[in-house]
Amino acid sequence: MADLSINLGGIRTPNPFWLASGPPANTADQVMRAFDCGWGGAVWKTLGVPIENVSSRYGGLDYKDRRLVGLNNIELITDRPLEVNFKEIALVKKKYPHHGVIVSLMFEAKDEWKEAIRRVEETGADGIELNFGCPHGMCERGMGSAVGQEPKVLAEITSWAKEFSSIPVIVKLTPNITDITEPALAAQKAGADGISLINTIQSLMGVDLDKMVPHPIVDGKSTFGGYCGPAVKPIALQMVAKIAALSQWNLPISGIGGIENWRDAAEFIALGCTGVQVCTAVMHYGYRIVEDMLEGLENFMEEKGYQTIEDFRGAAVKNYSPWGDLNLNYKVVAHIEEEKCTGCQLCYIACLDGVYQSIRLPENGSRVPIIIEEKCVGCNLCSLICPEKCISMREVETGRPPESWNERYAKPQTQA
Ligand SMILES: Cc1cc2nc3c(=O)[nH]c(=O)nc-3n(C[C@H](O)[C@H](O)[C@H](O)COP(=O)(O)O)c2cc1C
Repeated sequence: MADLSINLGGIRTPNPFWLASGPPANTADQVMRAFDCGWGGAVWKTLGVPIENVSSRYGGLDYKDRRLVGLNNIELITDRPLEVNFKEIALVKKKYPHHGVIVSLMFEAKDEWKEAIRRVEETGADGIELNFGCPHGMCERGMGSAVGQEPKVLAEITSWAKEFSSIPVIVKLTPNITDITEPALAAQKAGADGISLINTIQSLMGVDLDKMVPHPIVDGKSTFGGYCGPAVKPIALQMVAKIAALSQWNLPISGIGGIENWRDAAEFIALGCTGVQVCTAVMHYGYRIVEDMLEGLENFMEEKGYQTIEDFRGAAVKNYSPWGDLNLNYKVVAHIEEEKCTGCQLCYIACLDGVYQSIRLPENGSRVPIIIEEKCVGCNLCSLICPEKCISMREVETGRPPESWNERYAKPQTQA
């Protein structure tokens, strides 16, 4: 049996699946039900100076029949009294000593952080997550992503947290920044025990064209919110990979963003994450999605011969490189499986109008398009859009040895 347990910066949990800070980790009742379903840890909904939320709060992006490809929210931190939260956190930790209970915090003044951390420690929680990522409402008040966008301020508050805390401190990063490595390295330098990313991406979901108000609507007005769900996974993966590939990087990463199944989780782990967190998928499908995640990850690990998460953590990082290191002499061309092709010719149109005019129609009455191999640049577009998934890309021999842009243009230029 594969061992799914992890140790993320000193926080040990029976498996890498944690609830991310958000509505699914808002109350003791919820977190305990989640643990009973199999979640290994939970990052409690962010605690801070009490706020009031608005109604409505969420906006969704559907794509054809798929609902909630992306979710936007304008919700703030917890709107329940701090006393109630601390009491419930202590209850959960007492009942579930082997699960991970991490408390997300967002305060402004140093003495507020100090007092909150003292209260968290009293609950017996396993760790603290500093919410430097929320991109709406709280950032206008100088907190959340306003901190995550200022590496110096992030480092200062992280060092306070480390000074006050005897339990591990995880820094949660905002993706609303040009270079994610700057706040990540600032957190590492300030002594954080780990980082987590991504929080939500600043967004506006669309406009109600009858009311002329963007979504979500609050009494005839709207505001920008934070985007999450399956649509953000590629952005999250890129940011995780960029950090994990840094030569000086040595902290554990908790990966977040669009994770819905074991495969998503395994991809984050392959790119360097020790564990993962999930919010939107639980809001959409409920806690029981973790059952498939556990089974799928375990089967995958057994099939590949990985005994622990560490056996494949970061395995794909070495294959993530700058563009200039890619082999210019590698070539693939499209191949159509004729038996599966329905003759819709979408690949032909897309190639003709959208890219490189490398597919032609046959002259013998057949509807199956023909790839013009000499012209095909191997861009993948036809394979990506084919409704039947009957186009694959096949490697062809170029007869040239591997050579990257950096190698080719680093060579001394010969005088003409
Ligand atoms: C409705 C909602 C509320 C959230 N509240 C918090 C929060 O209080 N603190 C926090 O750190 N992140 C919060 N998040 C962000 C999530 O923890 C997570 O970083 C983000 O949603 C990306 O993960 P996902 O794609 O699995 O949802 C919230 C997200 C949603 C959708």
